[in-house]
Amino acid sequence: SSQASSSDDGFLNCLSASIPSQLVFTRSSPSFTPLLKSSIRNPKFFTPATVRPLYIVTPTNASHVQTAVGCGRRSGVRIRVRSGGHDYEGLSYRAVRNETFAVLDLSSIRAVRVDAQASTAWVDSGATLGELYYAVGKASGQLGFPAGLCPTVGVGGHFSGGGFGMLLRKYGMAIDNVIDAVLVDARGRLLSKNTMGSDVFWAIRGGGGESFGVVLSWQVRLVPVPPTVTVFNLPVTASQGAVDVVTRWQQVAPALPDDLMIRVVVQQQTANFQSLFLGTCDALLPVMSSRFPELRFNRSYCREMTWIQSVPYIYLGSGSTVEDLLNRTTSASVFASGYKATSDYVRRAIPRDAWATIFAKLAKPNAGLMILDPYGAAIGAVPESATPYPHRAGVLYNIQYMNFWSMAAGDGAVQTKWIRDFYAFMEPYVSSSPREAYFNYRDLDLGENVIVGNVSSYQAGMVWGQKYFKDNYKRLAMAKGEIDPDDYFRNEQSIPPLAKNK
Ligand code: FDA
Repeated sequence: SSQASSSDDGFLNCLSASIPSQLVFTRSSPSFTPLLKSSIRNPKFFTPATVRPLYIVTPTNASHVQTAVGCGRRSGVRIRVRSGGHDYEGLSYRAVRNETFAVLDLSSIRAVRVDAQASTAWVDSGATLGELYYAVGKASGQLGFPAGLCPTVGVGGHFSGGGFGMLLRKYGMAIDNVIDAVLVDARGRLLSKNTMGSDVFWAIRGGGGESFGVVLSWQVRLVPVPPTVTVFNLPVTASQGAVDVVTRWQQVAPALPDDLMIRVVVQQQTANFQSLFLGTCDALLPVMSSRFPELRFNRSYCREMTWIQSVPYIYLGSGSTVEDLLNRTTSASVFASGYKATSDYVRRAIPRDAWATIFAKLAKPNAGLMILDPYGAAIGAVPESATPYPHRAGVLYNIQYMNFWSMAAGDGAVQTKWIRDFYAFMEPYVSSSPREAYFNYRDLDLGENVIVGNVSSYQAGMVWGQKYFKDNYKRLAMAKGEIDPDDYFRNEQSIPPLAKNK
């Protein structure tokens, strides 16, 4: 094939001994750009100014990955791993500064093997969440899995950075349900839970895979779901009292029974209450009238369905089907627009007058939106140090801020500034010391690594690291020091290595 030419390029020559040339792409290959673009989910990182890889490798098995890592180290080519490509800062396929790197695109390593008898599954990192949910739903109507809402998100990035969705109050995060994993480390070794060591196995469940190697697959514990779930979507506008209802929601939602999740999307002047209840409408009605009468919920809002049907319904809308979960290029409007996002955690309810100001700010031209995910119950019951993800007991809810723009209309400077100003405005109302943030909602405004002596600086990384990981940052750095002391696997926000005796 036309891809890998037999040049005197050390990296290519090294690969060619063990990887078929049709799995290796250089910039001169006609397929290079379409392949690079295939899972770019934020088009602001697909411009002429974007620092792109020199090579893309699409391994189909573990030995290809081992070879790519070995060849990369030998020839001074770094590797960025891409599973689903949803990284908010594009770090799986672009670099901020000039860098010689290859993208290892895992989209061909994406099997899902469900053992319904044992209620477990092995899922490869290149699978999407939709492919995982679909396979689980096919294998059993009584099993589900607690992870994110968007079906095109990749398992590799999502699991290694945490992962939460509509089942978070009942079953916690994706990482709380990972029981084994397969990792290729910087020495090219193929490791499992038992051979990678307990600190590394801990680290890849929330600390970001990119710092520790290439996670090839994950074994997960599947969770029981009832035969009927109830979904609702209830919009409340500002003129209908949204400020009061959202203010009240802050106390109600994190304290509800664990089988009821009510999140809120606040956009322009509407608070959209989106819910998944693990039970029937008849069972939901009395809970709503006793716990949250302010929402004025009634039977007409109930949509009963199976859990697997609820997954596309909630994210893709009422016209979608379970088969849509298999569509890896679902063009949700988000992928046509550039966007900027960031996050916060709220530990004390925000006063009503601040909510009134927030609604006024959301009414302005070029304003963004807020997604509020309530915590409590299972997600809060896990100790802060059990996984790298530390935002647990005491968190009322997570906020995600997002703002979008049409790439044809501009570079997003106005929308990005709106996010930054809004983030500054929110400071008094959210967690502090550190101001916590969700690693999977990556934001380089929180800080970037500084390279000292050819490794990322532990000290400099604390600025962003403690926001994502609190006190777990240090243990992550020690796990990094153990598995990749030379800092081969790194990006602008990877965990810096720390020697154990420091
Ligand atoms: P991508 O391939 O871009 O990787 C992200 C990072 O992980 C990169 O640094 C990459 O190098 C690294 N990585 C990827 N695969 C790896 C592997 N196999 N081994 C080692 N490192 C690897 N989150 C959430 O919790 N709940 C939600 O509901 C949503 N919803 C959502 C919707 C949309 C539209 C987007 C764009 C994002 C979300 N997210 C989310 C955030 C999502 O969880 C986050 O962006 C994940 O990191 C995406 O994983 P991908 O594999 O798709 O990303």
